[in-house]
Amino acid sequence: MLRRRGPLMERMKEGVGKVVEGVKKEKGSYTKEFPTLDDHPVGKEKAKGIIKYYEKVSGWLNKGKGNKVIKEFKIFRWNPDKPHKPFLQSYHVDLTSCGPMVLDVLQKIKAEQDSSLAFRRSCREGICGSCSMNIDGDNTVACLKPIDANTSIATMITPLPHMFIIKDLVVDLTSFYQQYKSVEPWLKTKKKPENGREYLQSPKDRKKLDGLYECILCACCSTACPAYWWNGEEFLGPAALLHAYRWIQDSRDEFEEERLQALTEDEKKLYRCRTIKNCTATCPKSLDPAKAINSMRLRHQLGHK
Ligand code: SF4
Ligand code: SF4
Ligand code: FES
Repeated sequence: MLRRRGPLMERMKEGVGKVVEGVKKEKGSYTKEFPTLDDHPVGKEKAKGIIKYYEKVSGWLNKGKGNKVIKEFKIFRWNPDKPHKPFLQSYHVDLTSCGPMVLDVLQKIKAEQDSSLAFRRSCREGICGSCSMNIDGDNTVACLKPIDANTSIATMITPLPHMFIIKDLVVDLTSFYQQYKSVEPWLKTKKKPENGREYLQSPKDRKKLDGLYECILCACCSTACPAYWWNGEEFLGPAALLHAYRWIQDSRDEFEEERLQALTEDEKKLYRCRTIKNCTATCPKSLDPAKAINSMRLRHQLGHK
């Protein structure tokens, strides 16, 4: 039977209450660790941030109906069809009637205040990589970024840095995708599978792909990389290189040598990385592109597996 849904405020209160009580019951306190996220330190930090945020929201909601909590968001605006320069536009959002993530804020602004605001999104759960942008100085995906509940300071939202802008928060990723395509991100083999049907892989070999296959191509890492800012045409950037390594590491792929040769025939494609590690610091999926790049260099120079 379908339950009748009450007014938004009531539904929010019920939902937030359930999350807070659920976490309390399970963990004893809001600040407990999340053991299932042990391999994902960024996810763990974000989960804690969400719980803290919910704690605040439940406090606001319990103060009573009609109690608004307003926060300012400054968002980069630019429209190629309008004769103005880029500028930051302020929006004020009531957090008691908004979801907990920055993407929820953007959706709310677009639905209720300004339908002309442009941004990309699809899955709203950190899988598609569409909603990448810079939030308060960090490249991340907006759907995994909890709202900063401090209402005394505005949250600044700008496009991914050093990219050509199409409109507002939407950047041109054509070159980024071409670089990804250039590493031939698919299985390449020389002989038919032994059983005539499929290429098998042992659990041990499959494990070697952990930390690589999870990449969602959000481009947060490449657009945070100074080497990529300065040599975006020649240097493939951390995202494409992480994917190159994902196929070099795959026990079923038989083109390791050719792949390494293609990456190193022009020294700028791989060796422009200066190990600054901005890529690793910013990845919203806790991946380590800098380590993948280093492993490929070692393999190329010393033949290390
Ligand atoms: S480690 Fe290399 S790829 Fe990563 S940010 Fe630094 S220079 Fe760029
Ligand atoms: S390595 Fe991380 S930051 Fe880079 S594209 Fe993949 S998921 Fe995004
Ligand atoms: S909407 Fe898909 S990653 Fe954010």
